[in-house]
Amino acid sequence: MSASRFPEGFRWGAATASYQIEGAWDEDGKGASIWDTFCHAPGNIRGGDTGDVACDHYHRYADDVALMRDLGLRAYRFSVSWPRVVPGGVGAVNQLGLDFYDRLVDALLAAKIEPALTLFHWDLPQALQDRGGWASRETIDAFVAYADVVSARLADRVAMWVTHNEPSVVATDGHVVGEHAPGLTDPALGIQVAHHLLVSHGLAVPVLRTNGAREVGIAINVWPQEPATDTPEDVAAAERQYAAEAGWFLDPLYAEGYPAEIMATYERLGWAPKVSSGDMEAIAAPIDFLGLNYYSRSVVRADPASEPFGTEGVDEPGEYTDVGWLVIPDGLYDLLMRVHRDHEPAAIYITENGAAFTDVVSSDGAIHDARRVAYLSGHFEAAARAVADGAPLRGFFVWSLMDNFEWAEGYSKRFGLVRVDYETLERTVKDSGWFLRDVIRENTPRSLGAS
Ligand code: FCB
Repeated sequence: MSASRFPEGFRWGAATASYQIEGAWDEDGKGASIWDTFCHAPGNIRGGDTGDVACDHYHRYADDVALMRDLGLRAYRFSVSWPRVVPGGVGAVNQLGLDFYDRLVDALLAAKIEPALTLFHWDLPQALQDRGGWASRETIDAFVAYADVVSARLADRVAMWVTHNEPSVVATDGHVVGEHAPGLTDPALGIQVAHHLLVSHGLAVPVLRTNGAREVGIAINVWPQEPATDTPEDVAAAERQYAAEAGWFLDPLYAEGYPAEIMATYERLGWAPKVSSGDMEAIAAPIDFLGLNYYSRSVVRADPASEPFGTEGVDEPGEYTDVGWLVIPDGLYDLLMRVHRDHEPAAIYITENGAAFTDVVSSDGAIHDARRVAYLSGHFEAAARAVADGAPLRGFFVWSLMDNFEWAEGYSKRFGLVRVDYETLERTVKDSGWFLRDVIRENTPRSLGAS
């Protein structure tokens, strides 16, 4: 890939999330999060795994930043643990918690790595869940206050701010399917939660700006939906599924309101969210970039008998990753072009993309993860094509910097560019990590001095 294929200043990076890597779950004044509670209850997580220790990044962050420098990363996307900073969800601020992120940001800047900070990557303070969690509007106010605290401390040094990571997963996996914390199974509640997440995003945007945040956005997970055939029924089914999953979040963010057909379905089922006056305007607060998390796509056919949308997924032949996601780089191209066309965001970042594969440690200690290298290479190519065709892509964060706690799957799935030995916590760069370093070098103009 030649230097001309990605715009100057392209933010090449990797991503992580607090609960998945930090450990130190009850140290230095941190409060409990819903993920602490969920993992400590038996039966929720594969193998009984928890994030109590995770990658111990809380103690090893300096070494991890050194590793990022070795990989030549230009940017690093991490999340802040809300209960580490505000242990009770609202009220008293834990300075020791805030100090940790202050040190991390300074270490990144010293290594010439741009920090990209996510405020909420799922670890809600348990104290707020005890009062209703995201189903309660109090949590909206609590989030805005927390966004204020973090940005007042860090926006002088952190340019890129992501309010929420994948609100649809919080709503669906956490409140409808129940496989994620807080483990609830109520569709109407999930839809209300999604609405409150979006409102809290919109209300936080001006607060972040007031505190000096220069670039504010949100990370939305989007799976393109391909019709199984080109019959009008299947084409309409794929569009409905896309509207329900992606449009439900993207449309209101871009001031188009909730998709009417999906809202009508929710009204019929008694699941429509309560929307207060001013909410839709709040959600549509202008943002500087849209973050997209892309992993795969679905194929959909019409099935009138299937509630709620009359759609059914169809298996597609091809290569699948360890978490059962089809490898389909073209989906990334299609997604970038569609979002560019539909919403014309000023800038797009791929805030996550990566693959779980079973890694084998060779006798020489190396990890030759050729399938992950091929996955990344294919997706970088797809991104380059979208750039050439006009998509305003400004950066790409690989999920993930290192193997980590993969939610309900515990430590059984490895997404890292860097292997973590969970016995010793030792880190080893995989071939995919060195591959990314080479891609970054080749795509960095000489004047910036690729190191
Ligand atoms: C995304 C999450 C991230 C990670 C990847 C594999 O949905 O945002 O934390 O678990 O999937």
